[in-house]
Order: sequence, then structure tokens, then C-alpha cells
Amino acid sequence: MFGDRTKKLTAMLPLRMRNQMDGLYEALQVLMEVRDPRVLVSLAPSGIRGLVLQRGKQGVPTQTPAHHSAHFDWTYPSDNSEMRALYTRAKVGQWNSDVALPWGTSVDPYDPATPLLPEGFLDFDALARAGIRLDAKERQRLVHSVASWMLSQFLHGEQGALFAAAQVTEAVQFFDGKLYGATQVMDEGRHVEVFHRYLDTKLEKLYQVNDNLFVIIDALMADARWDMKFLGMQIMVEGLALGAFGTLYKQTKEPLLKELLKYVIQDEARHVHYGVLALRDHMKQLSDSEKREREDWAFEVALLMRNRFLAYEVYEEWFEGILPRAKWREFVTHTPGMHQFRQTMFSRLVPNLREIGLITPRLLPRYEKVGLLQYMGGLAADRLDGDGLIAELDHAA
Ligand SMILES: [Fe+2]
Ligand SMILES: [Fe+2]
Repeated sequence: MFGDRTKKLTAMLPLRMRNQMDGLYEALQVLMEVRDPRVLVSLAPSGIRGLVLQRGKQGVPTQTPAHHSAHFDWTYPSDNSEMRALYTRAKVGQWNSDVALPWGTSVDPYDPATPLLPEGFLDFDALARAGIRLDAKERQRLVHSVASWMLSQFLHGEQGALFAAAQVTEAVQFFDGKLYGATQVMDEGRHVEVFHRYLDTKLEKLYQVNDNLFVIIDALMADARWDMKFLGMQIMVEGLALGAFGTLYKQTKEPLLKELLKYVIQDEARHVHYGVLALRDHMKQLSDSEKREREDWAFEVALLMRNRFLAYEVYEEWFEGILPRAKWREFVTHTPGMHQFRQTMFSRLVPNLREIGLITPRLLPRYEKVGLLQYMGGLAADRLDGDGLIAELDHAA
């Protein structure tokens, strides 16, 4: 986007200023990549609050105004048998985090017998080539930071999911969906609890919310349209989270974390299933113009998530002032563990977008261009339950 001359001039600036410019360019690029003006209008205010003002990082609570209506139905119709079945399964699937998880496990993030992340997750040779040489202890500490960063982002996503699930439960028209939604609110509350408890008492580290994640949560909390909240949370954020949880479940050797993820994955599989059920029929009823807006929105948000989860919070803690921000971005993009994460996340997300009808022939070239078309053939969430997912992950491990 920026010409060679700008790049050359920027390269002459001191590192701190170069980093500030890099951050600003990146924030601008996120917004400039959006092609549909309606999508820009709906994402831009959140983009400014998240990327420019960094509202999620001010250390004070954020007040996000909501614009949806609560939909009451005093006739209590039985209106969706699949959602009712999901509600029944969700009641049976409830678990008490205090007794289900072995909280007595002593977690030592530096114990080589139970590593949080596998060896080779970070490519330390690539980091050395960028000028950063770490000794064995520092490497362990960096892995601990990256694991804490990922789990912190899961936690922040869960807080978003808790409030989005509550909003959607109010806003949808289908009554069986509201009953099901009540179980999801409980699930998400439990997820906030267990991720926070794990970070607070076991890893003893908590990172602030990533700006791009903030943008997405902010945008869907404020949107008045229930299906945009659904698309954003149940399909995009939850779909990607399900992929991320699965990758970490497969990779970690820390027994408490593994067990925690196993329980959370079973709940999340129901949430994404609900998202697919609710949106598949709804999308067919929209006008062409409404449908196009959602197709573009989903693609842009997918890109935002794919390109931007770059652990800058870890960078700022460790390397700000000694490594250019752009070099860190290159390192995180190519390091094997994070690459693997992106692969699994999108292999879960893309089939769901296909299933609800948002990857149309018009969008295919754009998905292909960014390398996401390869995931089109996967199973959507309505075909995968929690047990099936865990069995698949255990089998692949
Ligand atoms: Fe959750
Ligand atoms: Fe969820």
C-alpha cells in the first residue's frame, strides 16, 4: 500500500518511531482492505475504538452500547425441533468446573515432562536470524508467555461470547433457540471462569485483549441485527476458537490444561452447531443486497482474524525497542506453531461459512487468493458433535 519512498524514509527513523508508524500503517491497512462500503461503515467505528484508541487496553472497564431489541413471545411456541434437541443435549452436557477438573494438579510451565506447547512451536533459529538470541531459560520463559497470551485471548473471547450469547438469547425469534441459548450463556460463564482460574492460579500471567479481537467483539456487540451478532460470534469467533482449542488440546502435554480444553471443546461444538442451524435458513430469506453484505463481512472478518493475531502484546513485553515490529510480525507469521494454529482454525471455519451459504461463486476468487479455498471440503459443525471432535483429535495426536 505504501510506496518505496515512504518505506525508505520510514527506515531512517529511530526504532520507536518506526514501530509507531508500523502500528498505524497496519491499523489503516485493516480498514483500507475492506471493499464493501457498508462493511466499512459497520466496522470502522469499532476499528477506531480498537486499533487507534486501544479501548481494550486502558485498564478500565469498557462500556459498549447495544442496539438490539429483546423479542418476547407470550405463546411459547415449539418452533424448532433441532434446536430443542440441542437444548436437551446441552442440559445433559452441563458440568461443574469445581469437580470435573483436577485443579489440584501442580502446573510447572518449565517442566520438560509436561510442556505447555511442544518443542519446535517457536522457531528460535529464525528469531536468532532476526538478531535475537535467547538462552535455554529465556526460551522457556518466552514459550510460557506465548501460551499465556493465547489463553488470555481465549479468555477475552469467552467474555465476548458470554455477552453475545446473552444478547442473542434476547434477540432471536425462535423460542426453542432461546431455551438453548440460556444453556450457552451458562456454558460461556463457565468458560470465562475456567480460563481465568487457569491463567490466574496456574500460569500466573494475564495479557490484555488483542486490538483486533477487540474490534470484532465491539462490532458485533453494538450491531442491532441479531444475525450479524450470530455470524460474528457463533460462526467466526467460536468457529475459530474451536479450531484453536483443538490444536492446543492436541499439542499440550500439561494434563490440567488438556482436560480443561476437552470439556470446553464439547460445549463449543454445540455452540457452533447452533450457529449453523440458525443461520442456514435465515440466509436464504435475505434480499440479495443483504446477503452480499454478509458475504463480504464474513470474508473481511476472516481476514482480520487470519492476518492479525500476531501476539504483539508478547512483542511489546519482550522485544519492543530491540526488534522492529515488522520483523516480529514476520517471525510470528512463519513460526511453525502459529502457522499450524491458523491452518486448523480455518479448516473449522470455512466449511461452516460454506454451509450457511456465505461462500458464493462471487467470493470464491477472493477466498482462493488468500489461500482459504483449500478448506472448503471439510465437515460443517452440524455434522460434528463434541465427542466426535475429541475422538478425531485423539486419533490425530
Ligand atoms: Fe465458550
Ligand atoms: Fe461458545
